Amino acid sequence: MASSNRNLLVLPGDGIGPEVMNEVRKIIAWMGNRRAVGFDIKEDLVGGAALDKHGVPLADDTMMLALEADAVLFGSVGGPKWDTADFSKKPERGLLRLRKEMDLFANLRPAKVFDALVDASSLKPEIVKGLDIMIIRELTSGVYFGEPRGRQTNAKGEVEAFDTQRYTVGEIRRVCAVAFELARKRQNKVLSAEKANVMHTGVLWREEATKLHKEKYADVKLEHMYADALAMQLLRQPNQFDVIVTDNLFGDILSDEASMLTGSLGLLPSASLGAPDATGRRKALYEPIHGSAPDIAGKGLANPIAETLSYAMMLRYSFDLGKEADLVETAVENVLKAGYRTGDLLVGKTDGTKKVGTQEMGDAIVKELDRLA
Ligand code: IPM
Ligand code: MN
Repeated sequence: MASSNRNLLVLPGDGIGPEVMNEVRKIIAWMGNRRAVGFDIKEDLVGGAALDKHGVPLADDTMMLALEADAVLFGSVGGPKWDTADFSKKPERGLLRLRKEMDLFANLRPAKVFDALVDASSLKPEIVKGLDIMIIRELTSGVYFGEPRGRQTNAKGEVEAFDTQRYTVGEIRRVCAVAFELARKRQNKVLSAEKANVMHTGVLWREEATKLHKEKYADVKLEHMYADALAMQLLRQPNQFDVIVTDNLFGDILSDEASMLTGSLGLLPSASLGAPDATGRRKALYEPIHGSAPDIAGKGLANPIAETLSYAMMLRYSFDLGKEADLVETAVENVLKAGYRTGDLLVGKTDGTKKVGTQEMGDAIVKELDRLA
């Protein structure tokens, strides 16, 4: 394989993470052989796998590798084996540490409906056909990280737990800027969601989104919505949205909801990006939005498409390889058109489809790449 100066850290993690990553490795190899798109790859442990070996869900050495890499390709973390782990050692903390220390504040979660899958959505085909939404989730602040947080016994002797939702002006502005910039390359529309009716952070969020819009992005159409109303509108008329920007927790929930419009959580990739440095390079981590799916892990049933499309996003956003990203996305689309379906996609009308496992789906994508190239 061609050597390169593209440094990639692969973190397969737990559950179905390693299985879907194995399929992406085939595509990485294909790109190296057929397109001379090579990577210098390092691989390491994260989540429960790291906890078992090192006693922490992310070792300091791994954190260093992630900070040095041009991009991190991530699988998934967590599983019942570690449910009883101490809160600070939960597998999820490994992922949260990566996001925080790499300062990956902008999480891009596209929800796109493939024509071949309009019938796999739980909504009517006419509601979801052609759907193409980009959710931008703030990823390094809000209630996921706000202090103080914890547990205590209150004055009445009762145990209570608390988390803090906190946002600074800078944090709101930088993620909204990403949304406006992206909108300009799409339908030029941004919907900003919060709960300004009940939360101080929501009021500040709306003020700052509005100010930034006036200052720099007045050419983009900006609307605001309460996050609960957005949850409803995403089911009622999802096609009205282009770019949605929202906080960490609302973004977590709303992106899971949006994924189901497309038919399956097993389809959707995401890119988590930091601020550009002096050379224009952004730290970046790419991961499917699905979790470790312990119920199907190790059975060869998982859908490798979300991880595959995460790799395609990496080609596009970290390495400016738009053509190669298009190629991977087209291969996925064609394989779906040809009727290949992992179990998660076998809902609704299934005539003309072929049920396949993880490896068969990966092989079908590689074969389609061969055909396209
Ligand atoms: C996600 C996941 C994570 C989150 C977990 C695994 C920490 O649900 O990426 O959406 O809540 O952010
Ligand atoms: Mn989530």
